[in-house]
Amino acid sequence: MEKKILVSRQFPDKGIQLLKKENFHLTIWDKQRPMTQDELIEGAKTHHALMCTLTDRIDRHFLEHCRHLDIISQFAVGYDNIDVALATRFGIPVGFTPDAMSDATADIAFGLMIAVARKMFFLHKTIIQGQWGYFNPTGNLGMELNHKTLGILGLGRIGVKMAQRCRNAYDMDILYHGRTRNMAAERLLDARYVEFDDLLLKSDVLSVHCALTPATKEIFNGSAFKRMKPSAIFINTARGPIHHEKDLARAIAEKEIWGAGLDVTNPEPMQPDNPLLAMENVCILPHVGSGTIEARNQMSVLAAMNIIEFYKIGQIPHIVNPEVLKR
Ligand code: GLV
Repeated sequence: MEKKILVSRQFPDKGIQLLKKENFHLTIWDKQRPMTQDELIEGAKTHHALMCTLTDRIDRHFLEHCRHLDIISQFAVGYDNIDVALATRFGIPVGFTPDAMSDATADIAFGLMIAVARKMFFLHKTIIQGQWGYFNPTGNLGMELNHKTLGILGLGRIGVKMAQRCRNAYDMDILYHGRTRNMAAERLLDARYVEFDDLLLKSDVLSVHCALTPATKEIFNGSAFKRMKPSAIFINTARGPIHHEKDLARAIAEKEIWGAGLDVTNPEPMQPDNPLLAMENVCILPHVGSGTIEARNQMSVLAAMNIIEFYKIGQIPHIVNPEVLKR
């Protein structure tokens, strides 16, 4: 195939090999840093398609320079970095890679929940700092998770996997809120749909699995944290801007909630002097939800197949804006 594809980062080889087998001309960014937006624009100008990921800014500025693109294939399930409405207006289909990382991301949410309940990251640091001391029967106490109430914002693919883990391991009650009802999950997990305020009031663990949209941006702010239980654990493995970071730090410092487990921050990367990193009941990871060999391989295959099938049969197996292909 004569088509030229700009690949904005070194994605796992499985997908790249599929593209090579179809004889696409690939330009793969191989520097140990992401492309700047100017580099991305200059590069994309001379290519037919773009394979990119969540930190590449595909906004109005980019799209106005690159409206010639046949397809944008995003290596991620989230696509808040892309102005999808404008891409749609310009007739550019946007592919993405759902499902591939649902288990991997739910594992991180589940792991962070336990780590926060037992202060694991903080205790690890005390050993490094030579503060193990002695066995103290009343020190370093965490909390148990059995029969607690899990609240999920956004009971989609990843939220369901998190709910299943919590149900099976700890027999947790499942509440959820979101844009859409998930009747299958309600049947499977006895999950109950509640208003957002009830989710705040009733959850012992509140785990975020929704997309970042204008409606969810900083939905977890000072007034939301004030509504939560003082014993509540807040988990965010979705997108950093869904919580207000300073409000979260203050809510934990003032014991309005127990603590937080974050795989996403705002901004990313988080600076090493961020006060959250020094807190006892906080565990933070550097956005590694999909970071398993299996998930990342599968994501690269899905992102490649979106391009291959688009050029071969005019279909995109995983598409964000299907209306573009119907025109
Ligand atoms: C990761 O954050 C993704 O959206 O795939």
